[in-house]
Amino acid sequence: MKEVEIWLQTFSPGSRTPIYRHSCEEVFVVLKGSGTLLIASNSHEKHPGKPQEFPIFSNSTFHNPMNDAHQVWNTNANDDLQVLVVISRPPVKVFMYEDWFMPHTASKLKYPYY
Ligand SMILES: *[C@@H]1O[C@H](CO)[C@@H](O)[C@H](O)[C@H]1NC(C)=O
Repeated sequence: MKEVEIWLQTFSPGSRTPIYRHSCEEVFVVLKGSGTLLIASNSHEKHPGKPQEFPIFSNSTFHNPMNDAHQVWNTNANDDLQVLVVISRPPVKVFMYEDWFMPHTASKLKYPYY
């Protein structure tokens, strides 16, 4: 599709995404399991900074603001975390961070991103 991209993503117990940001909007619906969403809403600084933590749980919808560094983590040791992800305006440029205090200028572009 031209304007949106949708996919199903499954995280095994304990697994997580990298810390990353992208220039698109993102919404995800948790279909199964639970975990933690970390978002650095202060990403306008030189680095993402200490993130806020939000519990995520099934049957709920979450939003990642454009360009805020974030990470999704399956913190549930017993169950898969399954999410339906929707992003705007593919193909998306993704910037990866090794930690929350890595400068934006050092983040690594991953393009294309699948
Ligand atoms: C999510 O919805 C399904 C279907 O209604 C329900 O069986 C399940 O218990 C719900 N999960 C939670 C955590 O509320």
